[in-house]
Amino acid sequence: MTELRLRVNGATTVLSLPPQVSLLDALREHLGLTGTKKGCDQGACGACTVLADGVRINSCLALAVQYEDAEITTIEGLDHPLQTAFVRHDGLQCGYCTPGQLCSAVGMLAEHRAAPDGELTGAEIRERMSGNLCRCGAYNGIVDAIQEVASQEVAAR
Ligand code: FES
Ligand code: FES
Repeated sequence: MTELRLRVNGATTVLSLPPQVSLLDALREHLGLTGTKKGCDQGACGACTVLADGVRINSCLALAVQYEDAEITTIEGLDHPLQTAFVRHDGLQCGYCTPGQLCSAVGMLAEHRAAPDGELTGAEIRERMSGNLCRCGAYNGIVDAIQEVASQEVAAR
């Protein structure tokens, strides 16, 4: 067992875990934060996306012990205009992929803000969000919601 301190959504918890436990399992099974979803558990679907110091990561591919000093944000701690935009634009159907889509989109907008390289067109958003799969096909709503929030951010600059 390894003792580690995880800081998630502003709260710090000390856990005693086997060193091979993924960040995803630590969140879901040890902290009870089941908003982050397990899809493929091998880095292919994006359902498990969370933010680590504002950067989007696949938590199924991350070991919890690697993130001891990071500020982790899961869907339970997210507070962003994208959330209401997803609802407005019907960017969810079953909602299973939605926590990962939202965390990924927040990280993606931050990446683009830090290194702007042209307008976030629908095609560009699709490319940047291609690691997040949605089996219900809510993609059009997701892209519209992200595009709306991206243009609001540009207008506010
Ligand atoms: S569950 Fe992590 S990428 Fe699919
Ligand atoms: S809304 Fe169901 S998988 Fe995306």
